[in-house]
Order: sequence, then C-alpha cells, then structure tokens
Amino acid sequence: MNKKFPENFLWGGAVAANQCEGAYDEDGKGLSIEDVTPKGIRGPITKEPTKENLKLKGIDFYHKYKEDIKLFSEMGFKVFRLSIAWTRIFPNGDEENPNELGLEFYDDIFDECHKYGIEPLVTISHYEMPLYLAKKYNGWSSRKTIDFFEKYVRTIFNRYKNKVKYWLTFNEINSIIHMPLLAGIMTPADKITKSEIYQAIHHQLVASALATKIGHEIIPNSKIGCMVIAVPIYPLTPDPEDVMTAFKADRENLFFTDVQVKGKYPFYIKRYFKENNIDLKIELGDEEILKNTVDFISFSYYMSACASSKSEENKKSGNMIMGVKNPYLKESEWGWQIDPKGLRYVLNTFYERYDKPLFIVENGLGAKDELIEDENGNKTVIDDYRIKYLNDHIIEIKEAIEDGVEVMGYTSWGCIDLVSASTAEMSKRYGFIYVDRNDDGSGTLSRYKKKSFYWYKELIETNGESLEK
Ligand code: BG6
Repeated sequence: MNKKFPENFLWGGAVAANQCEGAYDEDGKGLSIEDVTPKGIRGPITKEPTKENLKLKGIDFYHKYKEDIKLFSEMGFKVFRLSIAWTRIFPNGDEENPNELGLEFYDDIFDECHKYGIEPLVTISHYEMPLYLAKKYNGWSSRKTIDFFEKYVRTIFNRYKNKVKYWLTFNEINSIIHMPLLAGIMTPADKITKSEIYQAIHHQLVASALATKIGHEIIPNSKIGCMVIAVPIYPLTPDPEDVMTAFKADRENLFFTDVQVKGKYPFYIKRYFKENNIDLKIELGDEEILKNTVDFISFSYYMSACASSKSEENKKSGNMIMGVKNPYLKESEWGWQIDPKGLRYVLNTFYERYDKPLFIVENGLGAKDELIEDENGNKTVIDDYRIKYLNDHIIEIKEAIEDGVEVMGYTSWGCIDLVSASTAEMSKRYGFIYVDRNDDGSGTLSRYKKKSFYWYKELIETNGESLEK
C-alpha cells in the first residue's frame, strides 16, 4: 500500500474543554453540568463541584496550552480540534454581555495555533450545558435554550471570524437518546419520556441549523459540520428479525444526520413518532431554519456493535451506544469492541447516503499506560497497542479513500491524555503525550512523549506512507 492521502488532508488531534482545561472557576467561568458529574457523564450529579471531580483541574490545559500546542506542532498537526466552554463566554448562559476574559482565552489559543500553521476546528458545544440553564430550563427540553444558544454562537462567530474557519455545532448530537443529561436534561433517565427527548432533539436540531445559518452569514468562507457518534450496528445473525432490529437501531442514529444534511425530517420518522406517541411542537419557521444544512459530516468512531431481536443479554458497555457482543471482535480494556473495518464501512455508508465530505474527528484507544524510563533516562510509554489500533483504523480510511469517499481529515481523540468522558478517569488514556496525573488527583502534570508521538509524527510527515499493512 503506497498511495498517499490527499495533499491537503487535515491530520491532527482532538480534545474537549471540560476534559482538559481545568480552571473550572477561573476568570469568570460559570459552572457546567460537567463540574457536578464527578463520575462521568452517566452521573450522578453532585450539589456542588466536589474535590474528587478530576475535570475541575483537568490536565490544566488552561495554563499549559502553549506547551501543549507546541508539542502538537512538533508532531506536524495541520488541525487541532477543541471546544469552547460555553460557560467561559456566558457563565450562566443567560447574561446580557459575554465574559471578556473567556473570549480572550480562546483568542490566545487560536493565535497560538496559527503561529504554528495549525488550523483550529472548533466544537461549539461539547457536553457543557451551563448548569444554570440545566437547572432553570431543563436544558434542551426548553425552547428558550435556543435563544441563549443563538446569542452564544453569534458572539463567538463574530469574535473569531478571522481566526476560525472550521466549526462543528454539537458534539455527538445523537448521544441525547442514550444520555439525556448531556443535553442538560435534569429529568432522571427513568422518568423521561420519548416525547420529551424528541422535543429536546427538535430544539437542538433547530439550534444547530440556526448556528449553521448564522455562521455562514458571519463567516462566508466557513465550513460548518454536524458531529455524531458513529457505531455501525450489525445483525448478530442472518435471522431477518436480527437484520431488522439492527436496521432500526442504525436508523435511530441516522435520523440526526438525515435532518442536518438533508434539511428536513426523514419520511420514516412519522411512523416512529406515531408508534411512540411522540407529538412534537414544531413552531412556524422551524422547517425553514432546518433547511440550513451542513457543509460536511464529522463523527467519532471507536467501535461497532451487534443487535439481536432475541436477547438483551450480553450488553457490552460502549461509547454511549451499547450492543450485543460480536464474537469476532476483540475489545479494549473498557470493553469497547475494536473494529477497524467498521470505519471503512461507516465512511462508505455515510458517503453513499449523503454525498458530502466526511471528517473523522475522534478515534483512538483508551488504555492503561505505564510510564517507564528509556535507556537515555527519558520518561516515556511504549504504547505499541495504541499504535496498532490507530494504524489499523487509518489503513481503513485509506481504503475508503480508494473506494472514492471524500475524507477531509482525521483528528485522533485525546491527542494528549485527558479526563475520560464516560467514567471521568485519568487512567483511561488516549494520548500521544502522557500527562502525569492519576485517578486520585495526584501528579505533577508534566508532559512526556510516548512512542506513539514519534509514530504519529512520521505518519503525518509521510502523509500516511509509513502505515503498516
Ligand atoms: C466521545 C466524546 O464520546 O468519546 C469524548 O466525544 C470522549 O468526549 C470520547 O472522551 C471517549 O470516551 P471516554 O469515555 O473514553 O473518554
């Protein structure tokens, strides 16, 4: 395999504010739902931020971003995906005026990226609903939240119009079906109705389309994408019942890209709404707003899952979307089923369905690392398991490109170790750069290059030619 990736392929890495920045109450930042979920996105919620919550300090990216971006530039990053914390800009979410110190922080970050020729790719909202809006309005359950969000996006588009070209609206927008708390919905998961969830989804879809419209108006050369979790669902057996179960489960997710890419509710959703007693309140003008479709589709890809019509047994844990164990796949230490070919499959199915450029904005292996000293006395991690995972997945991207799929870029998740989202642990590491922080909060926060750091550097340098088949 010696063909190169496209010349302008955007290689890089990705992080989210709440998992790396820390400084949760500095320079006027307000609280978000992440500050009160010390065990991760599945809850429970604490009344106040508590010391055990590793996200409060993260990896202190807030103060160390210059050092970190320099390391990314050493690897040759062309793009760096990060999110803006809504609560740095509007601490409660409903203020009249934005917080200048919060705005300045991201100005500095974007300037630092450009200093090294790194293009920022900004997620507008990555699981960080302001806690105040979550408590007062029940997050995206309320239509009011669209207005607050609109103000927030206008503010950041205007402020960063000369610094940021690539934007994503909501991180993993389809996660709301599985984890309503991520959309700031405080109703306990066992009390929430499908109607309430889909109403909140409607608000988010309108907000996403509105952001796309506003972004295109304020930054005419911008590229604005949607972002979903991609977990292909295979039938567990050839039993047509299993095939149908998998097909329906897949559609639950495809619904989100269908609306954001095609600009309207898909034909099949009517029946689903009817059978589930979902009666959406759609206001005049919403359908018009939804027509503001995205320029590209971005997604996270970690695993695939199986579906069976017969058994609910054997549920695997996973990246929000769970499924039945696939007997042909190995899994990560956290039980996520490793399936590189699934990535080629996802890329092809998305491209076939939408004919839009694709961007893989998250992929990687969460694993326990051991920090050792090499023969020169330098601390490092020999993470061959991570290199293998990434190598095998990126080969499948290359295959998809050979298939004819248009792929804009690839940002590996957690390019520097950070606090995990699902379990809020430090020991679940994804990075090319090791951060000295432990699950009990101890550690110097020093950064060390892992073996994969040099591997990724070479991969970017050779534009993919160094991949091993
Ligand atoms: C995605 C999220 O779901 O998966 C990230 O967008 C998250 O925020 C990533 O970190 C990996 O999940 P985890 O739980 O291993 O951190």
